[in-house]
Amino acid sequence: MGSFPLFPEQASTFAPEVDHLTYFLLIVAVFFTVLIFGAIFYFAVRYRRRSERELPHVMHGGMALEIVWSVIPFGLTMVMFTWGASIFYRESRPPDDALSIYVVGKQWMWKLQHMEGQREINELHIPLGRAVKLTMTSEDVIHSFFVPAFRTKQDVVPGRYSTTWFKPTKAGKYHLFCAEYCGTNHSRMIGWIHVMEPQDYQAWLSGGATTGTLAENGQKLFEDLACANCHKPDGSGRCPSLVGLFGSTVHLTGGATVKADEGYIRESILQPQAKIVAGYGPIMPTFQGLVTEEGVLQLVEYVKSLGPKPAPAPQANTPPANTPRGNR
Ligand code: CUA
Repeated sequence: MGSFPLFPEQASTFAPEVDHLTYFLLIVAVFFTVLIFGAIFYFAVRYRRRSERELPHVMHGGMALEIVWSVIPFGLTMVMFTWGASIFYRESRPPDDALSIYVVGKQWMWKLQHMEGQREINELHIPLGRAVKLTMTSEDVIHSFFVPAFRTKQDVVPGRYSTTWFKPTKAGKYHLFCAEYCGTNHSRMIGWIHVMEPQDYQAWLSGGATTGTLAENGQKLFEDLACANCHKPDGSGRCPSLVGLFGSTVHLTGGATVKADEGYIRESILQPQAKIVAGYGPIMPTFQGLVTEEGVLQLVEYVKSLGPKPAPAPQANTPPANTPRGNR
């Protein structure tokens, strides 16, 4: 007889936290269910009508009772709210040193890319004990990336990037599901997450043949699409230089500003007219239909690899510490 576990394995740092909250909710729910049904049966018997002429004693309320049964549930729901919100906020903020993996969902498969260039379908290999950040989008409809053992579930939405992260705590093989009904073969949009010992992961990484890192492939695409004709690195082109763009604040025509994150770069490739950089004309054509979502992710990674903005000329009275000078 195989075992029939009520809960999936706990294989990420969030798993025990999510389970503790679930147990708390269960205990509260069971306690009140028993209390309320018990009271119903007890009162039904205790205060049953004993004769045809019996009239019940009139009650005008009890302030103490009203306060007690308002304050206790209020306190309990506030505990649920703050507890849940604190896990939610931590689950939505990946740590800076997380390993970056890119995910594209489509009917009906998961396509995953590693920074080093490895691509996988319906399988993801990751190292044990390292935080992993997923940047995800969809080619068609809404999917949802769900790994029960990690207690991680995040919608994957066409037209935007969503992120999630987890830190595996146990080597093994875990189910990956699509948790958003996405058409005929939704139930087959499944796969495996392989959590490997770090040295095994390194061996796996160096084992598979790759055609360059994500950023290198992005650079190739950048050249094939002739982006470099306008986006010259020194800023002399008809379009803004992309060096130091990622993570910076961009000033737009009309005075607004935007932070150059993954979503902004994606939008600028697919809908260049949506946000025009101040000082430049709306001349860029759209690349919608010319670049796949995976291609866009490679381009994003290439733009990221162009590094942070070169440091501004140091002020005479505040020499920056640890900054090598004149190396560019
Ligand atoms: Cu994809 Cu359900």
